[in-house]
Amino acid sequence: MSPKKLRRSESLVLDPDVLRAGPVCEFQSSLAVEAQGGTAVQPWRDLFLADEAAGRTVVANARGLAEASFAQVVVHLQKSRAATFDDLTEAWRILAPGGELLFSGSNALGVVSAVKRLAEELEQPGVVVANRARARVVRFRKEGERAPQREATDPIEVVLPDGIQGESFQLETLPGVFSAKRLDPGSELLIEALGRTTLPTKLPKRIVDLGCGTGVLGIVAARLFPAAEVLLVDADARAVACAQANIARLGLADRVRALWWDAREKPPEDRFDLALVNPPFHHRGPEVDLAPALALFESLAGWLSRNGRALLVANRTLPYEAALGRQGEVAQVLDRRGYKVLSLERSARSKSARGRTAPGARSGGRSRPPTRSR
Ligand SMILES: C[S@@+](CC[C@H](N)C(=O)[O-])C[C@H]1O[C@@H](n2cnc3c(N)ncnc32)[C@H](O)[C@@H]1O
Repeated sequence: MSPKKLRRSESLVLDPDVLRAGPVCEFQSSLAVEAQGGTAVQPWRDLFLADEAAGRTVVANARGLAEASFAQVVVHLQKSRAATFDDLTEAWRILAPGGELLFSGSNALGVVSAVKRLAEELEQPGVVVANRARARVVRFRKEGERAPQREATDPIEVVLPDGIQGESFQLETLPGVFSAKRLDPGSELLIEALGRTTLPTKLPKRIVDLGCGTGVLGIVAARLFPAAEVLLVDADARAVACAQANIARLGLADRVRALWWDAREKPPEDRFDLALVNPPFHHRGPEVDLAPALALFESLAGWLSRNGRALLVANRTLPYEAALGRQGEVAQVLDRRGYKVLSLERSARSKSARGRTAPGARSGGRSRPPTRSR
């Protein structure tokens, strides 16, 4: 769903008679908080920073609201049902007895079936308080013993490919964090590429995993290169929390870190030898949206050293080569099961850039500095 449509459906909570007067706690948006005060819960870093800059009270994770109690809480439906029911569970926890839960979502994201499930779990039908623009808001009251049910997320099994170490390990997952049910086939292929001839002869000392999700790529890299320092970054605080938990559980905290960072921000560190990327192709909605992936690609120049390299995986049909070609020389190193692994070498770009530079002009072997994509 386009950001405009998303905002239109979110704005239903501002319709007359939906909210009571007074502060509100709102998950995954801050329109109601902006109108009435209260606290927004925003795990996506760009939205969190925007709220913070506007002076609104905002947290990345509702679990940080240990003592809070609100007479009304708004939960906006997300693409991930597991993430939505995780929010609903937290919303119910911080809702005062007799308080109102306002569950809002668009038809495109499946609000009707989500409301049906919640109504069954709470054993109350819910009252539709707004219904227009292919979206609705349904009100539930906190009474009785029933509560929304959080979905359990099982650990995923990661097998290091034969010829590397032949070992496997488990990674914890969290609702809404990619990839929740099993190891993504794209990640799997990138792991395979990581252990093949695609690596430079010099072992990487500093590795960054851009858009880390559970942390799978960076953690595999840390196990393959025991002397390397690894940084995992993601724009979703839930992914960072999940990656951090995995790093700690696997005893890697002395040389692996996870950081909350959005691709449109300047990279906080640089001079990495190797970047690993399984780029997102959605942006908080069900439709394909390449903007976050393109922003990640643009950031590569900021993360990588002059001779740095990136390994990226993508669905075979996704046209990333042109955008990546602006950052360095791109080669396809694997093509299997509908996915391709691309290698990007920055030094190759530097060489060709030097070739094009007029005599006497300074190229410095550097690509242009990272720019913001949106
Ligand atoms: C396809 S998943 C890959 C996750 C993990 N690397 C793997 O292979 O399983 C893409 C990740 O990019 C993150 N992401 C999306 N937009 C981002 C942005 N603007 N900046 C940083 N990370 C972003 C998502 O939260 C998601 O975890």
